[in-house]
Amino acid sequence: MYAEPGARLHSPEAAVTRPVCAKDLAELFSGHHYYIRDFPPEALADPPSNWSILAQRDAAQRVAGAAVLDIEDRPPTLPSCVPSRITGRGVAVRGETGIRAAATHLLQQVLSDLDRQWPGRLFHLASRYRWLVDGALATGFRRLDTMAYLEHRLHRMTSLEPKHTLRPARPEDLPQLAAIDARAFPNFWHMGAQRLNQLSQSKSARLLVADAGGQAAGFILTEAVLQDGRAEGFVVRVCVDPALHRKGVGTSLMAGAVNAMHRAGMTRVSLNALLSNEDTLAFYRRLGFVAQLRHSQVLGTVTGQPRTPAPRRRRGVLSNR
Ligand SMILES: CC(C)(COP(=O)(O)OP(=O)(O)OC[C@H]1O[C@@H](n2cnc3c(N)ncnc32)[C@H](O)[C@@H]1OP(=O)(O)O)[C@@H](O)C(=O)NCCC(=O)NCCS
Repeated sequence: MYAEPGARLHSPEAAVTRPVCAKDLAELFSGHHYYIRDFPPEALADPPSNWSILAQRDAAQRVAGAAVLDIEDRPPTLPSCVPSRITGRGVAVRGETGIRAAATHLLQQVLSDLDRQWPGRLFHLASRYRWLVDGALATGFRRLDTMAYLEHRLHRMTSLEPKHTLRPARPEDLPQLAAIDARAFPNFWHMGAQRLNQLSQSKSARLLVADAGGQAAGFILTEAVLQDGRAEGFVVRVCVDPALHRKGVGTSLMAGAVNAMHRAGMTRVSLNALLSNEDTLAFYRRLGFVAQLRHSQVLGTVTGQPRTPAPRRRRGVLSNR
């Protein structure tokens, strides 16, 4: 009744006739073990077009595990040293029969599927759960970095006044912001204009630009996220043109974003930073951000050897036994 996993992956009919239902996934991501779900639960019902959801069924045909992936092509404007990436946005498994084994099995399946569909991409994810980290390491991932979580209670932030002109980003700013991003971040983390546009389109997102004589000097992308039923601030990205570092632009951007959060009634702002990025950690500490105890391991692996790319699927909800 079920085709072999590989055959089914390339068969749109099979994906259509055996879709993973949104309810199965919602149950998996809310009631069972999961490590990241950096999307609101309702996103599973109507996922963005660049997401792919790879799901695995058990003998009883229940969804036993699923990975929500963000498939990102390297923007043509970025150099070829920038990897095409697949970001794990969520991974969940039922843990009744051994959670590490379940994670390893799911990741093996996901990797072999990705290898067929999108060979030669860097697949990365961040997790603080041992079961998933162990599963990933057993499947061939390696540690790339460690991610720290920092936060700030807004009432404790002494009022910061931006010293630079700030304004909301306009669509025509995006190529310039992406160029600043490419200069400021190492290759692996570059973000193209398309991605920046996609992230800033969310209703809860805000993209602010620091203007220096009519030119963008840097930008900050923030989002309001729901935490225990309350809206809180999250800094997705802050970035200043390297030629203008240490001139207070980053502080101005943060001040503008944080003041807007305060006005909107938010009481807390949080963000993530890589431990290897010591300069940025110094910047956040200087602003009064405090590191949380939890950390995530950033893990990555290249899916197969680069070959002629397989035809691109728009979005797949696939099921494997
Ligand atoms: C992090 C970043 C946004 C800071 O922007 P900036 O405009 O240079 O920062 P500011 O001039 O406002 O710095 C304020 C204070 O932060 C600290 N700080 C900033 N950069 C620092 C660095 N490279 N090393 C040590 N401390 C630093 C200093 O205390 C500084 O005050 P000082 O210059 O009077 O000593 C910028 O370095 C950047 O774009 N980095 C690359 C992208 C990145 O990693 N973004 C964050 C992850 S999303």
